[in-house]
Amino acid sequence: MQYAYHDYHPPTENLLGEVLSGLTCQPKRLSPKFFYDAVGSRLFDAITRLPEYYPTRTELGILREQGDAIAEHLGHDSILIELGSGSSQKIRVLLDSLRPTVYIPVDISSEHLRHSASNIARDYPDLQVEAVCADYSAGLQLPDLPVDTARAAFFPGSSIGNFEPAGAVSLLRDIGRDLGPGGAMLIGVDLKKDKQQLDAAYNDNQQITAAFNLNLLTRINREIDADFDTNRFEHRAFYNEAEGRVEMHLMSTCTQNVRIDGHRFRFEAGETIHTENSYKYSVEEFHALGAVAGYEAEQVWIDPDGLFSVHCLRVCR
Ligand code: AVJ
Repeated sequence: MQYAYHDYHPPTENLLGEVLSGLTCQPKRLSPKFFYDAVGSRLFDAITRLPEYYPTRTELGILREQGDAIAEHLGHDSILIELGSGSSQKIRVLLDSLRPTVYIPVDISSEHLRHSASNIARDYPDLQVEAVCADYSAGLQLPDLPVDTARAAFFPGSSIGNFEPAGAVSLLRDIGRDLGPGGAMLIGVDLKKDKQQLDAAYNDNQQITAAFNLNLLTRINREIDADFDTNRFEHRAFYNEAEGRVEMHLMSTCTQNVRIDGHRFRFEAGETIHTENSYKYSVEEFHALGAVAGYEAEQVWIDPDGLFSVHCLRVCR
């Protein structure tokens, strides 16, 4: 079976523009959405299998355990939109329990997207696969779809945690508009927990998370005219309890200058580029966030160890 491919990918000028503006900010920052080039997507896959990184396997366990209950809430024969089609393992579990008619994986990494879309199309011959390469944080663009078919979104992996709470609200509200009143949102959200466990999940022994973080600089060197020395930056990650988020940074180990597209950026020793926030929510906090975004909390499933939550939210009518 073939899949359709829709390229709504932002042009590379966006990378240059966002890098220049992010490094002009004080403190310096870069968006985590740029982690996912081909190498970064592969490193992220490796992260999901790390012993310290509990979210992926825990969410997958919930999806497996609760397949029937999830299908009761989301229904069959729907249009299923997956935001950030990261792990094809999770979507397979969901496709098996929901049996939608149309599947729309949306991902910023074209290589990763094509690879997973073609595998899904091959293994689910009756499923209409409409792959969308796009940055969903810039407003979701969808191909033409039947208007009379129920829509559901799957937003796995606690990727919502990458957004500031206010940004998460506006993203969920925008997606709610695409889903329409009564549309369902199945969303994975990492739960608040003790600092040791969170710090360990983002500082693995094999240093895969460090490689994932540093690959951002390698990618920038390759795709735009930049000369980062990756040996002079180090991975830093920690749970910021006051803000309720894990922060990732790239720390300059010395005073140095980096040239990007003719601009010079100075780094002090110990200065960091803030590369990611990963917000953690209690069930009550996430219900409140969903309500502000125009959703009713319908159901929440949590693993026995209380590590991770999967919510079913319903767009208010
Ligand atoms: C895919 C954004 C949910 O925040 O846990 C994993 C990305 N960064 N290890 C997360 C990530 C470092 C991940 N999200």
